[in-house]
Amino acid sequence: MTRFLTRRTVLAAGGAALALPALHARAQATREFRLGLITPPAHTWNQQLTAFGAALNTASGGRFTVTLFPSGQLGNEAAMLQQLQTGALDMSLMTTSEISNRVDAFGALHAPFIVPNIEAAVAMLRNPIALGLLNGLPQAIGCVGIRYGMVGMRQIITREQTTTLADLRGKKVRITPAAPTRDFFTMIGMAPTPLPLPQIFEALSNGQIDGVDLDFESIINNRFQELCRTMLLTNHFAFPAAGLVSARVWATLAPADRELIRGTMTEALDALCNSMPEREARQGATLRASNMQVRPVGPEFFGDAVAQFDRQWGPRAPALAQLRAAYPRG
Ligand code: BEZ
Repeated sequence: MTRFLTRRTVLAAGGAALALPALHARAQATREFRLGLITPPAHTWNQQLTAFGAALNTASGGRFTVTLFPSGQLGNEAAMLQQLQTGALDMSLMTTSEISNRVDAFGALHAPFIVPNIEAAVAMLRNPIALGLLNGLPQAIGCVGIRYGMVGMRQIITREQTTTLADLRGKKVRITPAAPTRDFFTMIGMAPTPLPLPQIFEALSNGQIDGVDLDFESIINNRFQELCRTMLLTNHFAFPAAGLVSARVWATLAPADRELIRGTMTEALDALCNSMPEREARQGATLRASNMQVRPVGPEFFGDAVAQFDRQWGPRAPALAQLRAAYPRG
């Protein structure tokens, strides 16, 4: 029975899930999974992943625990990805930035203005076009891609007042290290400066960078609205994350245990995505009430950069054209 237990059975029937441990305890010993992430303990991701750990513990009858290593304790996302590849790290939720550095196809999810709003971003990450990209990850990067999570839509905050595109030209903008992101900011005439999340505060405080590509939650958590004069409310990127399990670790797990992990992690990441529209509305209101000037601008603000991006990345990321067609702008 355990070998052929389906995901639906595990998730839907508490009874079936509870029946599993007794049968499995003989085959699969207790195990602690180490899960690394770049975000700090108060972040939404960490809360959802704590819930994932609790759900997996219950579903496995106490055999499995998940220990979080937050705030980039294990290194930045590139370092964590390497650890996943060797099996030194079991799991992670990380932005798809580092994946897009290694797998061009993921450039589609990082295309500027690929969706018009947060609701469409959530829908896009459940679209078979986007989900299909996860299937190639075991071979491409040695990780099993379980499901997408996300960060809120990206905005541009600047230390000085910004009114036109000319105000951005030549300025240093912090980006999450990702080739498509770098290319877009280069195309709009800025100097992209890759920095992991925990290093932004110092760089912005000491003037090493002029602006930041970031989401509402990270702006508020770090009180960047007190350091910046303008937020260009662009919603220019949907910012996906992927729940990953080391393929080496995955290979050691019994099929039914893989399904427990897949089911509980999927549930947690779906809950994360479902919560995003309401969070964005609340956090957007907080920022509009701050002293930072909030300027809504659309793709036209960036001239022909979006078309340039598509010319460069379209051939490398075939899903880009498909997603543009699926989520047209109003
Ligand atoms: C960032 O690199 O900007 C980022 C990463 C994870 C969560 C939020 C933001």
